Amino acid sequence: MTYLVTGGAGFIGGNFVHHMLREHPNDTIICLDALTYAGNLETLEPAAKNPNFRFVKGDITGRPAVDALFAETKPDVVVNFAAESHVDRSIDNPGIFLQTNVIGTQVLMDASRKYGIKRFHQVSTDEVYGDLPLDRPDLLFTETTPIHTSSPYSASKAAADLLAAAYFRTYKLPVTISRCSNNYGPYHFPEKLIPLMIANALNDKPLPVYGKGENVRDWLYVEDHCRAIDLILRNGTAGEVYNIGGHNEMRNIDIVKLILKELGKPETLITYVTDRAGHDLRYAINPGKVHRELGWLPETKFADGIKKTIRWYLDNRGWWENILSGEYQQYYEKMYGGR
Ligand code: NAD
Ligand code: TYD
Repeated sequence: MTYLVTGGAGFIGGNFVHHMLREHPNDTIICLDALTYAGNLETLEPAAKNPNFRFVKGDITGRPAVDALFAETKPDVVVNFAAESHVDRSIDNPGIFLQTNVIGTQVLMDASRKYGIKRFHQVSTDEVYGDLPLDRPDLLFTETTPIHTSSPYSASKAAADLLAAAYFRTYKLPVTISRCSNNYGPYHFPEKLIPLMIANALNDKPLPVYGKGENVRDWLYVEDHCRAIDLILRNGTAGEVYNIGGHNEMRNIDIVKLILKELGKPETLITYVTDRAGHDLRYAINPGKVHRELGWLPETKFADGIKKTIRWYLDNRGWWENILSGEYQQYYEKMYGGR
């Protein structure tokens, strides 16, 4: 089997490439990635010498190049991770989110129709369901929860999901969609909560907590997400949506305090900053369907996963320090300077 994995130089896509090469050594993985600010070839370094792996630099919105790649490589399966993925950046500049997340998905699905594929998998997010109240722990997102987005990011992901469902119904393109909760683990770009807090704590810099830090996310170790997608590709049913989450709800402030404790750093580093516009209160996934139908369960408990993640950032300082020394400096100043 030949897999075209888009966005494989990013956080989850990179972990997925490593997962697939390890678990399915007879399959071929072609990674298509535009290497935006979030893409990093160092993430794919461990795969570089594998003869079953090939990296292609390219933009999923570039129709001629995407077509040519499909014509040349004839993928059996497409897994679309490529996206603009950061809510704060989407508030600052929504246009690129529509371009990559919606148009890019359309271009990939058109090529998938033209050249014929066995499966098109759209990697989506629980953020398409909007948010849940903090005082109703009984409420969880299921696959039938209405789409109700808050940010330009989640709106663009929801639009892509709807388009993917339309391509299934209208053109019979064999589409599956997974909607996962927040991931954490190795190779996570340090503009997102967990790696940003680890990096700042290690550098004795203030830890910027939005609002009161009471917002809740449902955290899943990235390898568990990769295993779920792998299972959906093998045993999932075309036309279906699968929610993925670990029943691990945490308040932001509790995660930040835990990271400080693990690193032996003082809580005085915590700085409360202006809240995110339209900030979603709580995400929580009901993963019953993927468990019942595909036998998936998360394997890594948060207490272990966060320790492993912190250890990875300690052992791979070069990876994130290279990022922090580049254009990221300007981003950080723009987002947090005077906030
Ligand atoms: P990321 O920002 O770390 O990586 C995105 C990758 O896509 C980068 O390598 C980037 O270079 C590439 N890319 C961006 N625009 C591109 C384009 N036009 N053409 C080709 N490549 C392009 O993102 P991530 O956190 O790894 O998320 C991957 C996917 O999973 C996204 O679709 C995201 O919506 C979804 N998701 C993420 C989370 C999470 O917690 N991070 C949770 C649920 C779903
Ligand atoms: P993030 O990692 O951006 O993921 P998402 O917004 O997609 O859930 O943020 C996770 C939570 O952490 C979210 O409630 C916003 C909050 N947050 C902070 O409090 N401070 C920060 O510097 C960042 C990046 C996020």
